[in-house]
Amino acid sequence: MQISRRNFLDAASAAAFPFIFPGCTGLSVRKYAANEKVNVGVIGIGRISTTMDIPLAIKFTNLCRFTAVCDLDSKRLAHGVDFIQKQYRKLTKEEKAPVKTFADYHDLLDDPSIDAVEICLPDHWHALVASAALAKGKHIWLQKPFAQTITEGRIIANLARMQNRVVQVGSWQRSVTQFHRVCELALNGRVGEIVRVEVGCGCDKPGGSSAVQPVPSNLNYEMWLGPTDEKAPYNETRVHAQDLKKIASRPGWIQMAPYGWGMITNWGAHQIDIAQWGLGKDDSGPESVSGTCEWMDTSGGKLWNVHTTYDLHYSYNGGKTDVHVCNKYPMGIKFIGEKGEWLYCMRGKAVTPSDPSSSTGGKMKPLMASKVSLLEPMANPAKPLKTSKDHWKNWLEAIRAGDPTMTATNAEAAQRSSTACCLGQMCMELGRGKKDGATVKWCAKKEDTCCDKAKALMKPFARGKYNLADELSSYGFDYEKVLRG
Ligand SMILES: NC(=O)c1ccc[n+]([C@@H]2O[C@H](COP(=O)([O-])OP(=O)(O)OC[C@H]3O[C@@H](n4cnc5c(N)ncnc54)[C@H](O)[C@@H]3O)[C@@H](O)[C@H]2O)c1
Repeated sequence: MQISRRNFLDAASAAAFPFIFPGCTGLSVRKYAANEKVNVGVIGIGRISTTMDIPLAIKFTNLCRFTAVCDLDSKRLAHGVDFIQKQYRKLTKEEKAPVKTFADYHDLLDDPSIDAVEICLPDHWHALVASAALAKGKHIWLQKPFAQTITEGRIIANLARMQNRVVQVGSWQRSVTQFHRVCELALNGRVGEIVRVEVGCGCDKPGGSSAVQPVPSNLNYEMWLGPTDEKAPYNETRVHAQDLKKIASRPGWIQMAPYGWGMITNWGAHQIDIAQWGLGKDDSGPESVSGTCEWMDTSGGKLWNVHTTYDLHYSYNGGKTDVHVCNKYPMGIKFIGEKGEWLYCMRGKAVTPSDPSSSTGGKMKPLMASKVSLLEPMANPAKPLKTSKDHWKNWLEAIRAGDPTMTATNAEAAQRSSTACCLGQMCMELGRGKKDGATVKWCAKKEDTCCDKAKALMKPFARGKYNLADELSSYGFDYEKVLRG
């Protein structure tokens, strides 16, 4: 094995703590003392970390301490420090809370004082950083979608198990009452066998600009591209807003392949995740996906290129259950039983059960059913689903308890949901230019497909040093062994 700085550091720490030598499986996971806090580092200071992942976790001052930030955009990195210090000024009256800064995530991961990391990065970076963090023994918060390809996700999920680390995925709907209620009822037969699930994920609109712009001096654009094509010319609408006042705006990459795949993985990681939860598919998945979509119009110098409308049928349970993912449905998930009765959930504050025939005039509400009585919770469901009232607190509590099974999401379930989303993307990609679209057959047990063209789309992204095999090897792990689990 080549001796890199990381290998050296690993070997040095292994001498002091032989039980944590990377490459060993089944790391011990420890409980925190009552007054001890989880030291958290944030990788990626962008829209989601500043609107959700920092503010919604830092407020638990008795559970955690935010001590470090990392970003390859130095303007955003400095903003991360200010942002955290401002939060502590409000929360604990500290004038200037110490926050370490890192331009390279490897250096943050090398810091032994950091116990856990929030990974709030564009989707094409999830696998490399999550794998490095787990290999280094950190607990992770990983934004959804879990991974950009199916094989990338398998690597993360296997490492999480091998390293025995706490993983929470940003699919936070699993910690919201109405999603839990509907899924538990659907799974436990309240409307009988589920024959159809209608899933609405919204629709992206064309935009962005393909004009070539100079790369801002504060942005390490070569690294931002990471495992994707290095020749992609820079335009702000490919990456993220340079004006810090717009940090909370939707970044361009989210509707630009191969950094994001569009709504199928973006909102699919929320909605298809809920469909799989309610169908009891956290350790399996569909048998096939068929359908078609329309692609963005990139004429006139527009840049974004993901799908717009979509109409996909996922077949589950030997064809008995059709999960129809279509932009025509309202945002949300509707489970329909064998006799036509249904249960429905979506985001929103009002979680009052309501009847569609009531004065709302049939407008969808966050928690609905074809008959209000169907929404009564079950006293002792045969298949209870894990509950959590707060996704961020749940992650911190699981770390402090030293219990990777405590989180509302977990790496294996996230990999299965992410796989379903990726299969939808693969189906749309393979159906390009074909009137009736395409079908991708899937064996959930082997996590494989018989279609060679689809197999090619499962592979991890890699470019030069940005590849999972080298990343893992630099921490003493063998890619093939991790992939086999
Ligand atoms: N859970 C949710 O509800 C939800 C909603 C929307 C998006 N997301 C997900 O959140 C994640 C972040 O999205 P965002 O909108 O905040 O993106 P963003 O582009 O606004 O922020 C990402 C930040 O990561 C930095 N970055 C990129 N590569 C890096 C690297 N290798 N090392 C260090 N920093 C790097 C960028 O410079 C940027 O500041 C995405 O995975 C997205 O899909 C989650």
